[in-house]
Amino acid sequence: MNLDDISTIGVVGAGQMGAGIAQVAAVNGYDVILRDLKDEHVQRGLENIEGSLSRFVKKDAMSDEEAKEALGRIEATTDVEAFGDADIVVEAIIEDEAAKVGLFEDLDRVTGEGVILASNTSSIPITKLGAPTSRPENVIGMHFFNPVPLMKLVEVIRGHDTSDETTRTVLALAEALGKTPVEVHDFPGFASNRILMPMLNEAMFALHEGVGDAEAIDTVMKLGMNHPMGPLELADFIGLDTCLHILEVLQEGFGDPKYRPCPLLRQKVDAGHLGKKTGNGFYVWEGGKAQHPA
Ligand code: 3HC
Repeated sequence: MNLDDISTIGVVGAGQMGAGIAQVAAVNGYDVILRDLKDEHVQRGLENIEGSLSRFVKKDAMSDEEAKEALGRIEATTDVEAFGDADIVVEAIIEDEAAKVGLFEDLDRVTGEGVILASNTSSIPITKLGAPTSRPENVIGMHFFNPVPLMKLVEVIRGHDTSDETTRTVLALAEALGKTPVEVHDFPGFASNRILMPMLNEAMFALHEGVGDAEAIDTVMKLGMNHPMGPLELADFIGLDTCLHILEVLQEGFGDPKYRPCPLLRQKVDAGHLGKKTGNGFYVWEGGKAQHPA
């Protein structure tokens, strides 16, 4: 499968990441099949896409017409069989290994020969997703960053058996979506989360040990290191359950206690305070913004 063979992109999962990927694909002229398990989830994803597109229209980065055309290119569905028409599928469902493996088996069954199956996983090994399929050479990581319409990076992860052709096509596709791809190998947390998560975890330990309050720690990193968000705000933005999951993958994958998740993170997840998406984490969130420490 080459870039020129791709006109329809399937996206599984209409959450924050899946909706963002669908939006970027549609804006760049691809037909999109966007699937989630329930109709209301797909509809919420479409509303988020509409909201994001309207922000581009408002600042004249896109015309109203272009936004409408992009929306019109997205077909919403709850049916996995719809991916029979896709030239590549990007999976962006929950970070649950069993759920992803099951989905890749379904995608392997319903998609045409040679169709690339890409995963937006933040840390589950691509090799484990490819192995149960009949086409591990066509399975690859395509890791986008939140908010997808704004962030330039796509981390392209080669599994153990991913072919050169699949890698070339996905690198080219990322560029066609206006992104900058970076190729990495399949080790726990890849490059991005192997580096990012220990920093976020360390900020949580600093808070836990009373080095400073949440605003002090975040201000140090924003003003001292020029980060757009402090690490505690960013952890909330990503989702504390996602951060905990990635740290557990790093700890298990490397067998190294340096990745042990901060007990404060575990406690917040146990309490259901997952950050921006639940309105409460290290901060209280309202209107999509961190308002004050929780
Ligand atoms: N769609 C369209 N436009 C959006 C948008 C969206 N989803 N989100 C924000 N914007 C626009 C706003 O309209 C605004 O436009 P303007 O400057 O023309 O008014 C602009 O972006 C800036 O937004 P805000 O003023 O609301 O807020 P900020 O200046 O703080 O920027 C941010 C928001 C871009 C999210 C910035 O804070 C940032 O870059 N934060 C760090 C994000 C990051 O690190 N992401 C990676 C997370 S890790 C990950 O995803 C991987 C996973 O595996 C864990």
